[in-house]
Amino acid sequence: MSEAKRRDIEPAEGKLGVLLVGLGAVATTYIAGVENVRRGLGTPVGSLAELSTIRLGKRTEQRYPKIRDFVPLAGLDDLVFGAWDPIPDDAYDSCKVAGVLESSHTEPIADFLKSIEPMTAVFDQHYVKRLEGSNVKSGKTKRDLAEALREDIRNFKEKNGCSRLVMVWCASTEVFIAPGPAHASIEAFEKAMDENDPAIAPSMLYAWASLMENVPFANGAPNLSIDTPALLQLAMDRRVPVGGKDFKTGQTLMKTVISPMLKARMIGLSGWFSTNILGNRDGEVLDDPESFKTKEESKLGVLEHILQPSLYPELYGNAYHKVRINYYPPRGDNKEGWDSIDIFGWLGYPMQIKVNFLCRDSILAAPIVHDLALFFDLAQRAGMSGIQEWLSFYFKSPMAAPELTPEHDLFIQHAKLKNTLRWLVGEEQITHLGVEYYEYGQT
Ligand SMILES: NC(=O)c1ccc[n+]([C@@H]2O[C@H](COP(=O)([O-])OP(=O)(O)OC[C@H]3O[C@@H](n4cnc5c(N)ncnc54)[C@H](O)[C@@H]3O)[C@@H](O)[C@H]2O)c1
Repeated sequence: MSEAKRRDIEPAEGKLGVLLVGLGAVATTYIAGVENVRRGLGTPVGSLAELSTIRLGKRTEQRYPKIRDFVPLAGLDDLVFGAWDPIPDDAYDSCKVAGVLESSHTEPIADFLKSIEPMTAVFDQHYVKRLEGSNVKSGKTKRDLAEALREDIRNFKEKNGCSRLVMVWCASTEVFIAPGPAHASIEAFEKAMDENDPAIAPSMLYAWASLMENVPFANGAPNLSIDTPALLQLAMDRRVPVGGKDFKTGQTLMKTVISPMLKARMIGLSGWFSTNILGNRDGEVLDDPESFKTKEESKLGVLEHILQPSLYPELYGNAYHKVRINYYPPRGDNKEGWDSIDIFGWLGYPMQIKVNFLCRDSILAAPIVHDLALFFDLAQRAGMSGIQEWLSFYFKSPMAAPELTPEHDLFIQHAKLKNTLRWLVGEEQITHLGVEYYEYGQT
């Protein structure tokens, strides 16, 4: 063990309540997945918290514990789930509508899934045009609605005997909202809630309620949500960890692997055309141009940040980037993503890369929800607050301090995540320098 200082981390004792905003495809695939794993009916593939090891010390030491054995994480048996949704279906019915899991994964746990019924949601069709729901709260002001969410949170915690909670936004993508005066300070934000200002979307009310109840908040959609000066200040004031935005699952995952490779080899890019077809409810919501704009913004920043065209104008200065999402019902949750990538090499000779990713959206997203729930809970027990940049690994459009450019490269994100875990426990950072293995006289 190095001289580095171990942070005080409270033990993961008692139940952890995972509050999911939205009980749709992603949320139910996640909940049903955890229950299947708990009953020995499946493996939590895709979850670092459950499967990954972490190297400690020198390669000669051969120390590779599982992350789960290295840092104190909530156990699977200690998780309890709650959710809000404007559609009144319980988790079983919602699972069936989503059509992601086969009956072999839903029938044995049907009673468990049926026991998870959504709480009434704070929902307004103005922000998600393609949805209608009846399981909705009413209140005179947006603050009243947010206060009702706070009450839900407290009741859930008490009823389920939880020692801690985390909240993960797994609800639909809202229409695009640019940060404005209502988001500039917490005073302006709360005044805007009182005045029912349209700049305050439901996702912001959940985020505010979460922070006011000292519950970490992770945003799995591209909505502005918690990513405003007002709510970030509140997170710091109340010492609550937060993060987002937008789960990094299919096409963007590929993009943040391929583009660092191009840059690492100084290979040029003239264009990147990405298109998707998907037929789930998320696809239907994203068929609305205003919700799509929110998603588009989230997907477009990636290349710009990774390739740094201002530093490499001759390689990336003229790269053309286009992203399309097409709603195509026959495919359901089984999204197909195509990438047509025009690159150039030595002396400018053109080449092409084609990617055809036949993925399953919610199967890729479920382990992300799980890891975020466990790591945000860990962050809170370790006394970390505000933006958790070390969890950028999971997000398409990672939040970062205002003076920083966000880190999108999947492998840098991965190294950062693991180094943060080492740092938490007082283990040495791994720099991959490795000269000590070769230079005479060093240990
Ligand atoms: N699946 C992926 O790979 C992936 C990747 C990145 C981001 N996302 C995002 O995750 C979110 C969930 O995706 P999904 O496939 O589960 O979609 P879904 O449509 O199946 O589920 C979303 C649920 O949220 C509910 N909802 C909408 N507004 C709400 C509100 N104000 N309060 C509570 N519930 C509300 C809807 O009724 C619906 O049941 C979407 O925003 C999606 O863009 C998904």
